[in-house]
Amino acid sequence: MTSTLLDSRVAAALTRMFAEADAQMPLLGEMFGKDSVPGESSAQERADALSEFYLPVTPEAGRLLYTLVRASRPTTVVEFGMSLGISAIHLASAVRDNGEGRVVTTELNEQKVAVASGNFADAGLDDLITVLHGDALETLAAIDGPVQFVLLDGWKDLYLQVLQLLEPRLAPGALVVADNTSMPGLQPYLDYLRDPANGYVSVHFPVRDADSMEISCRA
Ligand SMILES: C[S@@+](CC[C@H](N)C(=O)[O-])C[C@H]1O[C@@H](n2cnc3c(N)ncnc32)[C@H](O)[C@@H]1O
Repeated sequence: MTSTLLDSRVAAALTRMFAEADAQMPLLGEMFGKDSVPGESSAQERADALSEFYLPVTPEAGRLLYTLVRASRPTTVVEFGMSLGISAIHLASAVRDNGEGRVVTTELNEQKVAVASGNFADAGLDDLITVLHGDALETLAAIDGPVQFVLLDGWKDLYLQVLQLLEPRLAPGALVVADNTSMPGLQPYLDYLRDPANGYVSVHFPVRDADSMEISCRA
């Protein structure tokens, strides 16, 4: 028994993609240093300004996502914020190994949709991944439930709205994983998830330095 993460096509795609993402870090730092992506611009403007950047989950977070999907065996996984597809490849690898399920992922930037779709084909996982192009607040409004696993990794100011949009379709016991929860602007999201009146059991999970997740279960 092995894992699809170790399949030669998947491993080669992830190795290439993480290496490309690492090589982008200095330029990304420069862009934020120069304030080339102002926080007050629209979600679409921010997505287009960052159209070439991976902004991925870390390898550790990717393996955590794989592990959680293997353990929870969701039939529908929803991802908010696909970028170039690193996290979706981890999610779909777990779905492949579960033997059933699908990943529905969303991306605002058209160029990223094209590149990620090529990456999914390279990895041999495109049959498991449905890519929705557009604003997740619109594209996710129409997806069928029940949803048993959600990854929130788009713009941070939209996490709570996206979660609340999906809430009526969340199955009991659904896992909601939010990335980068130490970033500014996420307190309203964390307050909501940590208030038992809203129906979640939630825990802060430090994946590694400067990369923490909030893992929440729909009670
Ligand atoms: C941090 S990156 C995602 C990284 C990806 N999960 C990975 O690990 O490879 C965030 C992505 O969310 C996309 N995004 C932001 N707001 C969005 C929205 N409202 N609808 C769809 N995609 C959005 C951005 O364009 C960007 O590519």
